[in-house]
Amino acid sequence: MTRFDVVVIGAGAAGMMAAAEAGKRGRRVLIVDHARTAGEKIRISGGGRCNFTNVGAAPANFISANPRFAISALSRYRPQDFIALVERHKIAWHEKKLGQLFCDGSARQIVEMMIAEMAFGDVTLRLGCPVGAVGHGPDGYRIDLPEETVEAQSLVVATGGLSIAKMGATDFGYRIARQFGLAIVETRPGLVPLTFEPALLEKTAPLAGLAVDAIARAGKTSFDEALLFTHRGLSGPAILQISSYWRPGEAIGLSLLPSMDVLAALKAARAANGRQQVATLLSEQMPKRLAQFIANESGARPNLADCSDAVLKTVDAAVNNWRVKPNGSEGYRTAEVTLGGVDTAGLDSKTMQAKVVPGLYFVGEVVDVTGWLGGYNFQWAWSSGWSAGQAA
Ligand code: FDA
Repeated sequence: MTRFDVVVIGAGAAGMMAAAEAGKRGRRVLIVDHARTAGEKIRISGGGRCNFTNVGAAPANFISANPRFAISALSRYRPQDFIALVERHKIAWHEKKLGQLFCDGSARQIVEMMIAEMAFGDVTLRLGCPVGAVGHGPDGYRIDLPEETVEAQSLVVATGGLSIAKMGATDFGYRIARQFGLAIVETRPGLVPLTFEPALLEKTAPLAGLAVDAIARAGKTSFDEALLFTHRGLSGPAILQISSYWRPGEAIGLSLLPSMDVLAALKAARAANGRQQVATLLSEQMPKRLAQFIANESGARPNLADCSDAVLKTVDAAVNNWRVKPNGSEGYRTAEVTLGGVDTAGLDSKTMQAKVVPGLYFVGEVVDVTGWLGGYNFQWAWSSGWSAGQAA
């Protein structure tokens, strides 16, 4: 039986960081993944350029049953630390917007960088290696692999979330957590397009492909970014962001012209030229098809002169306080992340070690810490992976 100090399951962002760091401390590390290539989600991320961090990453950008849990790891390994690593590997990068950093070249550079970091730590990488049973061994853990059973003092679970099964996502990490008595916060798809029921979809179908800047709201949370009408409902950054806060059965609020006092503009236009049409006025500020849709939905007569103040208020609300109830989301098939996961109440926030199971660590997306869109999820993977790598 081969003995390692540390076995890491999952060669994604978090697992590779944990393995590299533990290896550089002199620990004998094995990292295994059932996929044939390491870091597949890194490779496809950010449209192939990997939005590898966000310079503003702070605990407020993360969703968790315990919003304070991420503070320690995020402050021990910060976006600046990852930027310094990227620069040491001479990878050119740029800031796109809102603090989001991308490779100038290809996301593959980040995968290659993490593989090189693991090589510095003499880490053994086994790909195409499904993991069987995991249990306690004489001095730590026993892990069944196809060819042999290995032993390790520490086991780091970095198997990610449930999104995009065809890329290797499984519930294995949650099963290991339950096996060792850890709780799971209910999982659901996050950063995911929202869908409409057929009757609403019929009305919005002509809008598919239109993008506008908008504010999307759910409860007290709002995001001011682009919104995209699709053949299934809504997408675009504003919707992906708000989807992580939306619960089935609830409505979301949309402002489609957030910087405009639409009621005042409608009243002024009516006073100046009553023969102007509601849809024509709106189309000065938004795509024509959307303007026509709003005019129809709010039941306004075509000419402004024929619209009472009450009708203009309805138009105003349809533009800047559109309450719309999605009937669901596109689910894990297209979700960028999984909300929920291993309950942080059972983990030490400094090391990611299970409080009552010495030597067992959970890092990255498998943990109940989910970031906004914009590089935050990779930063959590790096920070939590790094933290476990110092301790495992
Ligand atoms: P990750 O999912 O990366 O890795 C888990 C690994 O475990 C996988 O390699 C998998 O094969 C392996 N595994 C699973 N089950 C196993 C088993 N039973 N046995 C062995 N191995 C197993 N985030 C961001 O910050 N910026 C971005 O630009 C993007 N873009 C993006 C695009 C798309 C399309 C998606 C789907 C997601 C993003 N994300 C993102 C989110 C980001 O990719 C995600 O949060 C991190 O990859 C999570 O890193 P982990 O290492 O935790 O899991």
